[in-house]
Amino acid sequence: GPEGKLQLVQRHVRAFPDFPKKGILFRDICPILKSPAALTAVTDLFEEHVRSRQLQVDLIVGLDARGFLFGPLLAQRLGVGFVLVRKKGKLPGATVSVAYDLEYGSAEVEIQEDAVAPGQKVLIIDDLLATGGTLLAACELMKRQQADIQGCMVVIELRDLKGADRLKPHNIFSLLQY
Ligand code: PRP
Ligand code: ADE
Ligand code: MG
Repeated sequence: GPEGKLQLVQRHVRAFPDFPKKGILFRDICPILKSPAALTAVTDLFEEHVRSRQLQVDLIVGLDARGFLFGPLLAQRLGVGFVLVRKKGKLPGATVSVAYDLEYGSAEVEIQEDAVAPGQKVLIIDDLLATGGTLLAACELMKRQQADIQGCMVVIELRDLKGADRLKPHNIFSLLQY
């Protein structure tokens, strides 16, 4: 059942103190990728959420880099396409970009101008929600594309940082909360 799947996922997350900076407790999802069963459990739980909420999804939008590890698997399950939100300077053609701050730094994300058509229903995927800066930047890119944001999904939510508050009114679904 879902309980067993969640436990399986939880057992495949490690914590590293003071990475990449002093004071940050880094949640490492690499063991999930190394375990076919844990990766399948993540995908199952994401798919079950979309189906049980009857979310209408035209496209999965995944965030560079760790959102790329989970997004395409879910997109394939749902039979929809996957769109890349990349760190700046990696995408050819006309692009739109947004600068943002995250828990331990700052960056700029970018999307191809023709990635999403106006009115398309998108679900945004990343591995982890900390301050919400990254997902907020992705939402901003989606607004510029006039996408219809159905919500955001992450494997891990760091509750103390209150990222979900910053992302309101968008719904955040997380598998694990710390
Ligand atoms: C990490 C993580 C999330 C983001 C969350 O990405 O994968 O995308 O930080 O932080 P926030 O909620 O405070 O914005 P990062 O850019 O560090 O690295 P990545 O390229 O490995 O995904
Ligand atoms: N991205 C932002 N904060 C993070 C954390 N504490 N662990 C892993 N990835 C992160
Ligand atoms: Mg990231």
